[in-house]
Amino acid sequence: MSANLLTLSGVHTHIGAYHILHGVDLAVPRGQLTMLLGRNGAGKTTTLRTIMGLWRASKGKVDFEGRDITAMETPLIARHDIAYVPENMGIFADLTVKENMLLAARSAKRAQQMDAQRLQWIFSLFPAVEKFWNHPAGKLSGGQKQMLAVARAIVEPRKLLIVDEPSKGLAPAIINNMIDAFAQLKRTGTTLLLVEQNLSFAKRLGDHVAVMDNGCVVHAGSMQELSDNEDLQHRLLGLAI
Ligand SMILES: Nc1ncnc2c1ncn2[C@@H]1O[C@H](COP(=O)(O)OP(=O)(O)O)[C@@H](O)[C@H]1O
Ligand SMILES: [Mg+2]
Repeated sequence: MSANLLTLSGVHTHIGAYHILHGVDLAVPRGQLTMLLGRNGAGKTTTLRTIMGLWRASKGKVDFEGRDITAMETPLIARHDIAYVPENMGIFADLTVKENMLLAARSAKRAQQMDAQRLQWIFSLFPAVEKFWNHPAGKLSGGQKQMLAVARAIVEPRKLLIVDEPSKGLAPAIINNMIDAFAQLKRTGTTLLLVEQNLSFAKRLGDHVAVMDNGCVVHAGSMQELSDNEDLQHRLLGLAI
């Protein structure tokens, strides 16, 4: 069994006439948390979308557990137990929190069929999900929507959870909730790949980092190494953690 659950090798992605990813190499070690960092416009979201098949790699390979998923359709990629929370969170505003959760569960048609123990665990991580269970999701605050988005992604166990900017716009108390949730998920064996702009968040959670610039991964290593090295932070990110 390879140490890496997910590997991108030399991935190029075009969006229309624009050449956005220029040979991305990225390894996501199994059972650990990898932070994808980089300035705005570096290509982080495009990388996540390419992994999920929402953009097509024009060259290179995406490998998940030894399987080539580069050309697979998005629903099939998701069925390999990969959950993806996009930046816009993908919540249905007109549906209740419960209905949003049910739609995310593959094996349950009714709330009674959901794994009760897992649901209790999710409620303990994200109390707002329980509190607003029968309310339309559109009525939630931004932070509560972000919680619901992550709760949906983990409603059933997944091998890999990918989240684009989970801490964006969140109040500090909710950021702590989010950190706790990711730490617990990691303890249950879930591999995580998170895009972050919030470096203190990244530092508290990350095992590994990959830093993107101009459509390439320009640095990969341990979070610790990057945290300890302000010169490296300045060079790669233009600021210190
Ligand atoms: N739908 C699109 N059409 C054209 N260009 C895009 C599109 N989405 C992203 N880009 C461009 O691709 C580059 C990388 O964007 P993105 O992956 O969103 O960066 P990041 O998530 O790191 O901020 C940016 O220059 C952005 O303008
Ligand atoms: Mg982005």
